[in-house]
Amino acid sequence: MEKHETPAADLLRDSMERAKTRAPDTSASRRAALKMGVAALGTVCLGGYASLARAASGREANVTDAPVTNAASPRDSVPFYGKHQSGITNPRPANGMIASFSVLAETPDELERLFRRLTDRAVFLTRGGTPPEYDPRLPPADSGILGPNIPPDALTFTVSLGNSLFEDRAWLKPHKPLRLSRMTRFPNDALDAALCHGDLNLQICANTQDSTQHALRDILKNLADQLVLRWMQEGNVPVIQPGPDGLAESARNLLGFRDGSANPDSGDTALMNHLVWVGPERGEPAWALNGSYQAVRIIRNFVERWDRAPLWEQEAFIGRTKVTGAPLDKPHARESDVPDYTSDPQGEKTPLDSHIRLANDRTPETQDNIILRRPFNYFNGVAKNGQLDQGLLFICYQADLEKGFITVQSRLDGEPLEEYLKPVGGGYFFTLPGVARAGDFFGSALIAAVRASAR
Ligand code: HEM
Repeated sequence: MEKHETPAADLLRDSMERAKTRAPDTSASRRAALKMGVAALGTVCLGGYASLARAASGREANVTDAPVTNAASPRDSVPFYGKHQSGITNPRPANGMIASFSVLAETPDELERLFRRLTDRAVFLTRGGTPPEYDPRLPPADSGILGPNIPPDALTFTVSLGNSLFEDRAWLKPHKPLRLSRMTRFPNDALDAALCHGDLNLQICANTQDSTQHALRDILKNLADQLVLRWMQEGNVPVIQPGPDGLAESARNLLGFRDGSANPDSGDTALMNHLVWVGPERGEPAWALNGSYQAVRIIRNFVERWDRAPLWEQEAFIGRTKVTGAPLDKPHARESDVPDYTSDPQGEKTPLDSHIRLANDRTPETQDNIILRRPFNYFNGVAKNGQLDQGLLFICYQADLEKGFITVQSRLDGEPLEEYLKPVGGGYFFTLPGVARAGDFFGSALIAAVRASAR
């Protein structure tokens, strides 16, 4: 068996072993941290639960851990500079959005100007500060919706490029990431063209919706001559009350199930290097190193119908226990416990066509298909037919789009859960490598590659 294992299978097994051995420590120290409670809140430097969990246990909090009630502060800040962009492996704050744009740049110079201005705005918005005061005869520098001082509020600003940006510009096309394609329809999709694709998207996340909205308006104002907004979808993550044992829990989605229980450990650098970040072994253009592929899907949930489905059916369709998130073959276990499919080959406990079993059958052969999910729930009011328009803003990252999202979604095609889901929008994007330091800018390596090939 070992002989057939892929590097991902090895890394995942090691990652899970490490998680097991640190579990008691983590739980005890988290409990202590949560007891420290509000006293520590003024000093956190990363969003909500992340700071508590990390400060207390030395363990990186996971992407899909639920933010804890009252644990977030406007002063939370997530470092902007780095090898990779933020907003991918760091835990979600309570609010997020994807805003997708058409890019007006037609030349390398114009594209560089766009990237540099986006970088300037991202540096300011993620750090916070006081906008300049202009002559009152001019429009003010800032919308003012957060007052005269902009708090960082754990804002992250993640820039990704769409297939059309490359395809529509002859000078950019030769530099397209190898696996970037235009999202095509899956059998259960009812895609609305007005909610799909785009040349560039921004994933903006923060503790509060006011901050994500403020950042979007800042971009719309400052880059009005370079970007045209095509569609956007906001979402949020329900915050939780700290439990009596202080253990991290995944947030719940709008089907009422914990979402993220089996996500790979985003604090495990070796695992993330293998599954999420583009490394040299992928054969991608050199400029794309340390970037990632992003798949976005706006998936409507038919919540009225779901709320009338029996509990046994809900659990069978997902493959987990609703209240705790435990696997169905270990109903008294924790959500972090792993189902044992080898002891259940006929799917008597966890149905073979349940969501989690189709998404990841936990054989060594499929471990290279693991994706890092970073979803948000959305609430869009009432649809024209009088039903609630709610669902999941599904976002995932992977080093290989084909092995990751496209393969997993293809395995999910036809799953019983589809009765309650309808994907209506989204797209595939390539998330740029990080902005390394002050003076660097988003996409600098791409622009350098374009200029080098023009010489
Ligand atoms: C509205 C749509 C969706 C809902 C409500 C949903 C819900 C869930 C739930 C409740 C779980 C179990 C807990 C967990 O491990 O997170 C789960 C697991 C998972 N989902 Fe989804 N999901 C949705 C869409 C998708 C899509 C589009 C994909 C990818 C194509 C996906 C991939 C996965 C994967 C990989 C797992 C983990 C399986 C495992 O390793 O055990 N899900 N999902």
